[in-house]
Amino acid sequence: QGDSDDDIDYMFKVVLIGDSGVGKSQLLNRFVRNEFHMKSKATIGVEFLTKTVLMDHKHVKAQIWDTAGQERYQAITTAYYRGATGALLTYDVTKRHSFNHVEKWLDELHMHADKNIVVMLVGNKSDLNSIREVPTEEAKDFAKQKGLFFIETSALDSNNVEPAFLGLLSQIY
Ligand code: GTP
Ligand code: MG
Repeated sequence: QGDSDDDIDYMFKVVLIGDSGVGKSQLLNRFVRNEFHMKSKATIGVEFLTKTVLMDHKHVKAQIWDTAGQERYQAITTAYYRGATGALLTYDVTKRHSFNHVEKWLDELHMHADKNIVVMLVGNKSDLNSIREVPTEEAKDFAKQKGLFFIETSALDSNNVEPAFLGLLSQIY
């Protein structure tokens, strides 16, 4: 596959943030490998995956960083956010508290990330509509008020996963 760096026109670093268990790792797994694991283990430390996409006839390589949403691992911040031009800030539509914490994650970004970072608010687990706790309209209004892009996704059934990542990349690009 034409993935040697010679063929790359642009490279963007994107970070995944949001509470533990909202589905960050599985969104990444779905986007990069088209796989999903129900028994996903909580992430420990930091890892990244890359995927090259074609945008406007340009090869755009996304380096997507994933880390633990758990509070006790949050000492890595500065290095994690360094050079990031985009963030997917994820919550779980079935967990009200993960949505309430979005403000806290925005504070994190303001403290540690570039002020021009593009942020996509992602309401994941849209497949679990029957136990939803966060209405779409409420999140959409919140995103608008904060100047964030917004999308709902399901890493399980793949709904909107590509549009979430590609939408963010196209806003950066
Ligand atoms: P940390 O690494 O602890 O920060 O969590 P995380 O945000 O990476 O969550 P992870 O991707 O590990 O997913 C947590 C759990 O939610 C796992 O059991 C996943 O299988 C499940 N999950 C992730 N995405 C979805 C989804 O779209 N729908 C449903 N139904 N379950 C999901
Ligand atoms: Mg994880």
